[in-house]
Amino acid sequence: MNCIHFGKCGACDLYQLTYIDALSLKEKRLKELLEPFYKDKIEIFSSPKSNHRARGEFRVWHKDKKAFYALTNLTKDGIEIIKECPKLLEPIQRVWTPLLEEINKDKILKEKLFSVEFLSGLSGEVLITLIYHKRLDDSWKEAAKELEESLGSFIIGRAKKQKEIISRDYINEKIEIDREYFYRYFEGGFTQPNPYINQKMIKWAKDIVKEIKEKDDFLELYCGLGNFTIPLSFEFKKVLATEVSKTSIKNAKINKELNGAFNIEFVRLNAAETYEALNRKREFNRLKGINLEEFNFSTILVDPPRAGLDSSSLELVKQIDNIIYISCNPLSLKEDLKELTKTHKIKRVAMFDQFPYTHHIESGVYLERI
Ligand SMILES: C[S@@+](CC[C@H](N)C(=O)[O-])C[C@H]1O[C@@H](n2cnc3c(N)ncnc32)[C@H](O)[C@@H]1O
Repeated sequence: MNCIHFGKCGACDLYQLTYIDALSLKEKRLKELLEPFYKDKIEIFSSPKSNHRARGEFRVWHKDKKAFYALTNLTKDGIEIIKECPKLLEPIQRVWTPLLEEINKDKILKEKLFSVEFLSGLSGEVLITLIYHKRLDDSWKEAAKELEESLGSFIIGRAKKQKEIISRDYINEKIEIDREYFYRYFEGGFTQPNPYINQKMIKWAKDIVKEIKEKDDFLELYCGLGNFTIPLSFEFKKVLATEVSKTSIKNAKINKELNGAFNIEFVRLNAAETYEALNRKREFNRLKGINLEEFNFSTILVDPPRAGLDSSSLELVKQIDNIIYISCNPLSLKEDLKELTKTHKIKRVAMFDQFPYTHHIESGVYLERI
């Protein structure tokens, strides 16, 4: 990928190397970090070099009465005006310039516009959130409706304590693994940023699960909108999947219906609460109608935020025989593996290049009880 902003824009900080060299550098780093626990092969999953990013968040910079896209610069002491961003998916590229042109033509759309967020996927729909430092009135809604029609995308306006949905606040996405899975991605919930890599991560996890002999039931923490849960659920008898975000759990329940994955119970519980519930330390109204005694978990998948697992989640994970750990931070993964490898052995490790041209490493580790 070539970008005129390489070396100036802070979004890509590993731009001096070829894609292959950057990938090898990350592999070497992951190998070194995991060395104390694992010396075998790391499975490498590469990304398309450009047009791979399904989410984009840009500041809007106002200069000479015109609006520009902007991002924090590489030295983190200012901004870089962004004229192109080749890593964005094709559907976002399609609306990128027309959106800014329309904003610059219309005072109502432009005034006090603070930032723009894009969300898209492989099925091509685009959701655009315009965030303002002003109250959004009827004239804004009219202008946004016209904008929506001219771009063929979905527009949301946000301001302090205000959310205006012009026609809908989600996109439809379709992911092909062993069959097609259907998802809605709602604005405000977590979605994986690289759909090509996401597909490979789900397939990797599903292939592991297919090999597990005594499958029984499946537990997932940090399940988001059911990204992994739904394709994996068909391999198990019953599934309990928990997550802290209300938006994501609401979204997950819709995705469950869309795919007929009726053996899943999605419950809004944070990871520590899930530990308390499953170890009968506390009762939750949110679990009403679900008999925890009926579950016999053989397998767990965790995909925590950068901080990794907290102490109670670690305790819970260790109680399960087969562990699939998806990590976006190899440092917290390393810390957690210090504990998990006391009871489990690492069988497989994968590196997924979710964030090309950055130092970020996404990885997957599969462990079995010793
Ligand atoms: C890296 S995302 C993974 C989501 C999902 N696995 C996916 O593939 O889309 C991490 C998720 O953890 C959730 N989360 C953050 N802190 C949490 C906590 N303490 N307990 C449970 N979920 C949490 C976030 O809302 C987010 O959905």
